Amino acid sequence: MPQTTTYTEAAAKPHLSARLDAARYTSRAFMRAEWERMWTRTWLLAGLEQDLKVPGDFFIFSIGPESILITRTREGAVAALYNVCQHRGNRLLAEERGCLKAITCPYHGWSYDLDGRLRAVPDSERFSRGVDREVLSLKSVKVEVWAGLVWVNMDSDAAPLSAFLGSIVTDLAPYHFERMALMEDQTVCLDANWKTAVDNFNEQYHVDFLHPQHASFVDCANAVNHLRPDGHRSVAVEGYVVNPRYPIPDTLPDLLKASIAPLGMNPDDFRGRVTALRKAVQQKKRQTGASLGYDYGELTDEQLSDVWQYDLFPNVIMTVQAEELWIMRPRPHPTQPDRCYFDKWTLRMLPRAPAGAAPDRPDRQVFTQDEVIAGKYTMNITIDQDIHLLRQMQAGLHSRGFQRAFLNDDESRVQHFHDWLDCRLQTAQAAPSSPARDMGVF
Ligand code: FES
Ligand SMILES: [Fe+2]
Repeated sequence: MPQTTTYTEAAAKPHLSARLDAARYTSRAFMRAEWERMWTRTWLLAGLEQDLKVPGDFFIFSIGPESILITRTREGAVAALYNVCQHRGNRLLAEERGCLKAITCPYHGWSYDLDGRLRAVPDSERFSRGVDREVLSLKSVKVEVWAGLVWVNMDSDAAPLSAFLGSIVTDLAPYHFERMALMEDQTVCLDANWKTAVDNFNEQYHVDFLHPQHASFVDCANAVNHLRPDGHRSVAVEGYVVNPRYPIPDTLPDLLKASIAPLGMNPDDFRGRVTALRKAVQQKKRQTGASLGYDYGELTDEQLSDVWQYDLFPNVIMTVQAEELWIMRPRPHPTQPDRCYFDKWTLRMLPRAPAGAAPDRPDRQVFTQDEVIAGKYTMNITIDQDIHLLRQMQAGLHSRGFQRAFLNDDESRVQHFHDWLDCRLQTAQAAPSSPARDMGVF
C-alpha cells in the first residue's frame, strides 16, 4: 500500500519543482546563497527556554559562521544578541551555557548588561570622541518563544513566528512541550551536508531496508504526508501496530511487548489479535493516564498511540509522541558544505511529581560520526543506522557518475522542502555583504 500525500492548504504549493542536483549539497556557491538568502532571513530554532530559568542564564546558538547569545534579562525577558563586542569585534562568550551577572569582553573589559546595553568601558575618558552607549550596545536579533522553544530571526523585518509556523502552533499545543524536561542533549559532527540529513528524515522509503526493526512496531507503509505552507512538512505514522506489508504475527513482537509493559498491559491478551493493540493502548492510556501522573486531557486518541513527525523549515525535525519529544537539528558547518552538526534533544513529559523532583539538566555530549559507527555513542538504534549511511550518501554526491536525484511519490516531503528552499533563494534579496563572505570562508 502506498503512502498518501496531502497539501494542507493550496498555498502550500510554491509552484516550483527544484532539481536536486548534486551541487546543491556540495558546492560552496550554493552554501553561500543559502547563508545570504535563507539562514539569515528565516526563523531558526535556537534552544530551549528551560536553559533560561533565572536572570543571567544564557546559552549560545551557533549557526554557520554566526554565534548568537540568548539571555534571560534582569527584567525576566528573553534577549538574543550577536555574540560580538562592539569595541573591536571580539567574540564575547565561548562557553555554550551558563549564568552571568553581566557580559564582559575578555579583551579590553567592555561590559554589557544582559539585554545588551553597554554598561562599562574601562578608561572611557581616553575615548576623546566620547562613548555613545546607544550606538555601542550589542546588536540584537529578533527572538520569540513558543512551546518552551526559543527561536531567532536575523531579519529584523521578519513576520512574527506565529505567522511562519501557521497551523502547526495549534496542532502541537496539546502536547505541551513546555512541560517536558530535557533528558539527553547530543551533537554529532557529520560528514554530510545539512540537507543530506534533512532529506534522510523526510522519507520512509528507506525504512524497510535501513531500519528493518521498524516493521515490528510502526506502520510506515501507510503514513500520510502533509505538505504545508512555508516549506513545513509533517507525517503521521500509526504506532503500536506491525507493518501490514508483512504477514501479521500471531503474538506481539518483542518491541511491542516492551512498549506496553510500562502501561501494565499483558502481551498474552493480544495472542491472535495483534491488530487490536493500538486501540487498546489508546483506551488504556485514557483510563490510567491520570493515576500514572500524566495529563492526556487535550490529546486525541490518535495522539496517544501514534508518532507524528513535524519537519519545520529549514532544519528542525520533531518526532512527537504523547510522553516524549525528539528534536533533531542539522546545522550547517561554518565553512564546509560537506559537513554539518546534527543535534538531538530528547525531552520527556515527567509524571506529575513532588516539587524538586525534576532531573538535573544533562551535559551536552559531543561526538563524531566514527564514534557512533564504532558503537561508542548512540542516539538510538534507528538514528545510528542513518548516521552510518549519511557519509556514504554525501560521498556519492561527489561522483562524476551522479547528476541529480530521481524521487518517487513517497518522497514528496523531500521535494517540498527543496521547492521551498529554492523559493527562498530565488525571491530573497541577498543580505548585505557578510564578514564570513569577505573573509573567504565559503
Ligand atoms: S574587543 Fe571587546 S573590549 Fe576590546
Ligand atoms: Fe532513517
